[in-house]
Amino acid sequence: MNKLVVMASGTGSNFEAIAKGIICGEINATIELLIVNNENAGAIERAESLGIKWLYNDCKNISEVIEIIEEINPRLVLLAGYMKILPENFIKAFDNKIINVHPSLLPKYKGLHAVEQALEANETEIGATIHYVDTGVDTGKIITQKSFSIKNLSTEEIYETLHKIEHEIYVKSVKSLLEN
Ligand code: GRF
Repeated sequence: MNKLVVMASGTGSNFEAIAKGIICGEINATIELLIVNNENAGAIERAESLGIKWLYNDCKNISEVIEIIEEINPRLVLLAGYMKILPENFIKAFDNKIINVHPSLLPKYKGLHAVEQALEANETEIGATIHYVDTGVDTGKIITQKSFSIKNLSTEEIYETLHKIEHEIYVKSVKSLLEN
C-alpha cells in the first residue's frame, strides 16, 4: 500500500480532497499521518472526522519531524496549505517526494497572496499548480496546472472555483504519481 504523509496549516480542504480520493478508490493509498504546524488548523477537525491520525508539531525542531516521517517511509509527502518554508535538510531527506499545491499558474506569482498578486496584475485567467518542492519558494518542477477565466466572477466565486480546481488536480496528480 502507498503510504502518504500530509502537512497542513489551514482549513485543510486539499487534505480532505486527497482523503476522499482515497475513500472513493481513485487513489490507492493510505494517509498515515497529518502533520499540522498550527494548533487551530481546521485540518485537525477534518482528520478527526475522517479517522486519520494527526500530530501537532510546530516544526521548529525539523530533525524530529524528519525522523517521524522517515519512520513512516511514505511514497509522497503532500503539502496541503502548509504555510511555512521547509529547510533544505527536510527537502533533501525526502528528495523528489514532496509535492505542493499553489494557487497560481507558476512560475507566475510565487509565494504568499498569489491570487491577490494575479488580480493586482489584472490577469483575466488564473489557476492552480501542482509541483515538486525544491529548496526555492514555489520553484520546483511543475507536475500539472489548470487555469480558468475570472471574467465576471466575484471574489468569492474566484476562490470557490480555484479551490475546486486545486482539489481536482491534486487528486489526479497523486493518483498518477502513485501509478507511475
Ligand atoms: C490553497 O489555496 C493552496 O493553494 C495554498 O493554501 C491553500 C490551502 O487551502 N497553498 P486548504 O487549507 O487546503 O483549504
